[in-house]
Amino acid sequence: MLLKILGVGGSMRETSRSTLALKIILEAGKTYGAETRLLDLRKHPLPFYDPNRYHDDTDRHDIRRITDDVNWADALILASPDYHGSMSGTIKNFLDHFWWEFAGKTFAYVCTSHERGLTVMDQMRTAVRQCYGWSMPYGAAINGDHDFNENGNITNLAVERRLRMLARDLVIYGRIIREQFQNDLASSEVATFAAQYRK
Ligand SMILES: Cc1cc2nc3c(=O)[nH]c(=O)nc-3n(C[C@H](O)[C@H](O)[C@H](O)COP(=O)(O)O)c2cc1C
Repeated sequence: MLLKILGVGGSMRETSRSTLALKIILEAGKTYGAETRLLDLRKHPLPFYDPNRYHDDTDRHDIRRITDDVNWADALILASPDYHGSMSGTIKNFLDHFWWEFAGKTFAYVCTSHERGLTVMDQMRTAVRQCYGWSMPYGAAINGDHDFNENGNITNLAVERRLRMLARDLVIYGRIIREQFQNDLASSEVATFAAQYRK
């Protein structure tokens, strides 16, 4: 199975370091056999989630391209700056738009922070779990000022190794989760979590 990974960039900064780190993981993912797409929410902003407006699938015509990307993905990477110990509003708004689509998909997390970003990644993990998505048990934290030079090239080799490890592990574990979920969907077994997602 060719794993399809969607990387979601959640910073509105043109020189975003979290988006640069995300691109490194996506490139590394390709070397492990994944197909990848980048959804940079700075370039493709989502409207503020409004439950009156997006209450069912037919009302999503203005966010069709992003919805298609989320449906296309077998696994996702969320990249967020640390904003007050939490994820950016951009990422939270992305998570508000989707949930049904996350079941049976594995998520990886990247955070630019001066404080290791653990609370940020934990909060993303909590929101994803609430939507029945799976999560990698570790993430990658980047200190944007120290780990990249002014040209946007990564200079911290330990961080670069961790980004590549995350890519490798997401390809391997993401595929196992996705394949099992799809097998469960295709079967007629009742006592599986995936049964409720059968159409
Ligand atoms: C509103 C706001 C809140 C922030 N809060 C924190 C914080 O609590 N902890 C921290 O380490 N950095 C904080 N930062 C700094 C950003 O996390 C940091 O600049 C990050 O590298 C930006 O990521 P980016 O390059 O992907 O945009 C904050 C920045 C902004 C704009």
